[in-house]
Amino acid sequence: MRVLLFLLLAADDLPEGAERETFVKMCSNCHAVARITKVKFSKRFWTTVVDDMVSKGAEGTEEETEAVISYLARHFGKPVNVNTSTAKQLQEGLSFAAADAEKIVKYREANGPLKSWEDFAKIPGLNPKVLDEQKKNVLF
Ligand code: HEC
Repeated sequence: MRVLLFLLLAADDLPEGAERETFVKMCSNCHAVARITKVKFSKRFWTTVVDDMVSKGAEGTEEETEAVISYLARHFGKPVNVNTSTAKQLQEGLSFAAADAEKIVKYREANGPLKSWEDFAKIPGLNPKVLDEQKKNVLF
């Protein structure tokens, strides 16, 4: 009961999202979630961290592990400026595929800096899943 209460309290301070429960379930057994949520990493780095935690004993199915990585990338991602970053930095920092990162750079070169989220809609074919997940991590 005490443990359950702790989990509920811990979850209360966390950003909402479908994966929140999975995150709390998978990541709060050994240390406080606050230890996790005070840092900001790219999705690529979160993937490494979560893999490391799984090797230390964190338990989850492959699906749950993916969900946790996605939750962390969405809410505790490292902001990246889409106008000053190279294509490689867009790939590493925001998880864009190489082709999508190139499209963003080309758009910038032709039209000047992206000014707001809506400008992404003017670049055809960007992966909507990545865009949605990285929404909080994009700086203009
Ligand atoms: C089985 C126990 C266990 C679980 C479950 C667990 N961790 Fe950890 N975690 C550890 C240990 C042990 C350390 C300390 C590692 C060290 O000091 O080198 C740690 C440290 C960390 C750190 C800090 C690393 C640092 O350098 O300060 C982060 C971030 C982290 N864990 C994230 C997570 C995430 C995300 C999850 C859920 C996927 C998770 N942990 C689940 C055992 C666990």
